[in-house]
Amino acid sequence: VENQLTELLGMKYPIIQAPMAGGVTTSQLVAAVSNAGGLGMIGAGYLSPDQMRKQINEIRELTTENFGINLFVPSQFKAAKNEVQTAVDAMKSFKHELDLDDELPELPTYEAELEKFNEQIRIVIEEKVPVCSFTFGIPSADTVSQLRSENIILVGTATTVKEAILNEKAGMDAITVQGSEAGGHRGTFTEEDGSLIGLMSLIPQAADHVHIPIIAAGGIMDARGLAASLCLGAQAVQMGTAFLTCVESGAADVHKQAILEAADDQIVFTRAFSGKNARGIKNRFITEMREVEQQLPDFPVQNTLTKGIRGKASVQKNKEFMSLWSGQSPMLAKSETVEELINRVVMDAKKLKDFG
Ligand SMILES: Cc1cc2nc3c(=O)[nH]c(=O)nc-3n(C[C@H](O)[C@H](O)[C@H](O)COP(=O)(O)O)c2cc1C
Repeated sequence: VENQLTELLGMKYPIIQAPMAGGVTTSQLVAAVSNAGGLGMIGAGYLSPDQMRKQINEIRELTTENFGINLFVPSQFKAAKNEVQTAVDAMKSFKHELDLDDELPELPTYEAELEKFNEQIRIVIEEKVPVCSFTFGIPSADTVSQLRSENIILVGTATTVKEAILNEKAGMDAITVQGSEAGGHRGTFTEEDGSLIGLMSLIPQAADHVHIPIIAAGGIMDARGLAASLCLGAQAVQMGTAFLTCVESGAADVHKQAILEAADDQIVFTRAFSGKNARGIKNRFITEMREVEQQLPDFPVQNTLTKGIRGKASVQKNKEFMSLWSGQSPMLAKSETVEELINRVVMDAKKLKDFG
């Protein structure tokens, strides 16, 4: 399949590896995807400028193909004193269970987040990263025009038609539409009010209301998901969970194993880990935080408050307190190399009737 988007992004196949912040998107993973004919993406949301620069250079050693980077667009957030206290109280017993002290970490501010984001943008420009995508919002008009003048291809994220239109108006070159099946955080940045639109509804409606190419994300793991997405009006797919269980991914082994063993009905939404709604495998932390879940501070404050717990749990390989992000199709996940995954998807897609 060749189309406007594969040409724009310089990929042989319409397959994008989802940026996954938090250590999943190693240089090996990103480069392997681009080398296999897809587009590898760095999940740089939590990376410092130095870490970004280092990874960009590492990838350039491993591939001459295009690759991309993804950033979190900061927005004003709510973190009232009583919400922080609710979180601290609710997590006290978990901290003791994991042998952590009660010390409160330094909490993020909007101003500091914005400063960090601007620094990240500076690195993207200095390093001339070919593709830059965004989630959680749309950058300022200034930032967009700065990036555009450097010929960096810009991709926004939308979870509704309204968000897709806002992205197009802001000057994005393409949009990732994220259905409610998607693993990890919701990219939602307008009042969505829990509408949680599924991908089968979102792709054709977005395709009818914007003129720029659409990338489909959420629950896509194989050729069937790829073919269906193209039929519905997308020009490529963005797969997260499918790449997370690959050999080259940096996800913790317990996380990979949990996905490989999970059933569809164990995948739930929670805001308990970060203060922003995200999809992952149900565990004790999610279940026991349910009662206070809606009274917790927003992202990124709650994310900072749970950092110690998530980190210690990961060291102890204790999956009950780790954020085991996964989309709704874990039963299609496999343990294989990136090359095996991409070749399998492409080969199977060619065999599908009325496709290719
Ligand atoms: C572990 C994990 C981390 C993610 N981190 C990011 C991120 O940093 N930026 C982003 O735009 N999307 C992120 N996503 C969402 C993906 O871009 C995509 O929407 C999702 O993976 C699609 O659903 P699937 O996992 O079923 O393929 C993440 C997803 C997962 C599973």
